[in-house]
Amino acid sequence: MSEKKIKKIGILTSGGDAPGMNAAIRALVRAGIHAGFEMYGVKRGYKGLLEGEIIPLGTRDVSEILHRGGTILMTARSKEFVDKSGQEKAKEIMKVYELDALVVIGGDGSFRGAYELSKLGIPVIGIPGTIDNDVSCTDYCIGYDTAMNTALEAIDRIRDTASSHERCSVVEVMGRDAGYIALNVGMACGAEVILIPEVKYNLEKDVYKVILEGRNVGKHHYIVIVAEGAGDVQEIAEKIETFTGIETRTTVLGYVQRGGSPTVKDRLAASQMGIKAIECLEKGKTGRLIVEQGGEIKDIDIKKGMAMKKQITAEELSENLKLF
Ligand code: F6P
Repeated sequence: MSEKKIKKIGILTSGGDAPGMNAAIRALVRAGIHAGFEMYGVKRGYKGLLEGEIIPLGTRDVSEILHRGGTILMTARSKEFVDKSGQEKAKEIMKVYELDALVVIGGDGSFRGAYELSKLGIPVIGIPGTIDNDVSCTDYCIGYDTAMNTALEAIDRIRDTASSHERCSVVEVMGRDAGYIALNVGMACGAEVILIPEVKYNLEKDVYKVILEGRNVGKHHYIVIVAEGAGDVQEIAEKIETFTGIETRTTVLGYVQRGGSPTVKDRLAASQMGIKAIECLEKGKTGRLIVEQGGEIKDIDIKKGMAMKKQITAEELSENLKLF
């Protein structure tokens, strides 16, 4: 709970952008003004905060952005902010600009920054936004659904050509530390193999053998989904081709997954999370993270949220093999 009555609220987006961040900014600005707050945008994440890049935002400033990917506030990764001195400076800047509270939209790293600010007594609220969906305290992060649908559409196309040529396609999806996109897109596209950073794999048993078994039951294509952090796709593809004799190609989907118009799920999650953040601030409730748990949008204590852990297990990954 904050002592001072909150009047002016800053919003920033930080880390990798995610489709739906704009929808969250819009919801925060409009619901915030509706509740009687003055709303401000902090440009370029924590970096912009340290440089005082703060602009007023009115209801018309956030029109025509609901359907747009990226973030109108732009985003950055700030080295300076990682240090205590940077965080102290951020506190001073907030004082100079008379910002009473800060809403941070971003992933795990951005939340760690928000947590450090809250420890310095700054009223903060976090809204989870990352296509990786790897923020532990929430079932859902803004951007995840859009990224998955973008990847799925691309892989469906790759599958058509892989089928015609009876090839194996190794597709890299995003996820440096987390395999949520790979796991769920893999299952949704009928991939033969899914490789993620959380679960160790053995190329002979988990990849070559599965592909050859597929060929023996009459499959005409083989899709191998690899999360970015799970290995080098080129190297994996070369080994598959050498071992199985099946012609193999690679595709790296990359940043295409981070852009684009947000899906219904992302627009709704972003709007509802934005509204929830403003409801908290109206009650003077800060040091909160807005989360989706069990299908419900809630606010939880930032310290408790940051202590939570979630990780994909080998059992969850092996579910896909039942669909072989
Ligand atoms: O936004 C999350 C993420 O897409 C990760 O999966 C990826 O490894 C990372 O961002 C790369 O981001 P950048 O190249 O912008 O640092």
